[in-house]
Amino acid sequence: MNIPIFELERVQSLFENTVDYNLTESGFHPYTLNELLDKQQIDTLTNTVLGYGQTNGSIPLRKRISALYNGANEENVLVTNGSSEANFIACHTLLEKGDEVVMMVPNYMQIWGIAEEMGCIPKAFQLLEENNWKPDLEQLKKLVTSKTKMIALCNPNNPTGYTLTKEEMKEIITIAKSVDAWVYCDEVYRGAALDGNVRQSFMGMYDKVMVNGGLSKAYALPGLRLGWLVGPEKIIADTWAYHDYTSITAGIMSHYIGEIALQPAKRLEILNRNRTMLNENLKAVKEWLNQYGDLFEYTAPQSGGMLFIKYNLEINSTELAEWLRKEKSVFILAGDCYGMDYHFRIGIGERKDYILAGLERIKQALKERFDI
Ligand SMILES: Cc1ncc(COP(=O)(O)O)c(C=O)c1O
Repeated sequence: MNIPIFELERVQSLFENTVDYNLTESGFHPYTLNELLDKQQIDTLTNTVLGYGQTNGSIPLRKRISALYNGANEENVLVTNGSSEANFIACHTLLEKGDEVVMMVPNYMQIWGIAEEMGCIPKAFQLLEENNWKPDLEQLKKLVTSKTKMIALCNPNNPTGYTLTKEEMKEIITIAKSVDAWVYCDEVYRGAALDGNVRQSFMGMYDKVMVNGGLSKAYALPGLRLGWLVGPEKIIADTWAYHDYTSITAGIMSHYIGEIALQPAKRLEILNRNRTMLNENLKAVKEWLNQYGDLFEYTAPQSGGMLFIKYNLEINSTELAEWLRKEKSVFILAGDCYGMDYHFRIGIGERKDYILAGLERIKQALKERFDI
């Protein structure tokens, strides 16, 4: 096998369904169909003809998606199975063996792994922890070369929740233009800002921009497996050619439900529900962490359903996560998955009671092993 193991996804896939408290989720507590749809919509859904549908995405759904981006129309959109398929297709469309990819880290490491598998050369530029996770754009400037084909971003960022300012976005575009590189931004957490302001997309800032999006995170609908790519019309046509090889199409029922979730009023309702949860949970989790004084250090996220925490204990992060899972059946994501030991990630988009019950297990464990 010529592809590196995607540790972050693998470890979650192995254990997330085997524990009492899974605190590794980065999205929000998912909707049921009954919560999301009214009776008439459920009736329409159950009468859906289970065909393939339009394989690059139904026109009404692509129209709804394109409405989220300035200057885009349905020809700028490819509908995919989750934003993970969007990432896979984007890399295969834009990159070739030997290309350099300069990627923001810490990050969801899917693109790093795909780049390695394709024989590209991934390089990292840092979000600086000591600077509240602001990006080191001087480092980015130094890293790009004439071989840089793509600057790969995740904004809002997984795992830090850092959200780029407009100035930082503009500067990144300037750097990309200086070497004629693509800017590819994973924007799956767009819409999940704690202050409720949906941030600007990179789409439209330069002619070599492609972004992804999807319903798994900010919209709390991961089970639909609905994602998308948005980019220049000609390249989106090329991505469709790859999509024919990967999965042909996203499911027809997901198309229908996705179109409802993205109706302007429904979309706002969903984003508001999630933002309220996020703010309440963040407050509760901060209180829990702060009771330990200097033990935990963190910068609160601006967006997204997770908190990335540094801990001051002499135990490796994978060991910490495994011990908590085995001893207390509570699952956190080790910083090692991001190449950052002495950190862990917990989800803060779940139901508050569930998160607090999981944290209570961690409290017991810390008392038993470290007497704190
Ligand atoms: C940054 C980022 N991109 C993509 C994905 C994949 O999500 P999905 O395929 O469910 O849209 C995830 C999942 O955690 C993620 O955090």
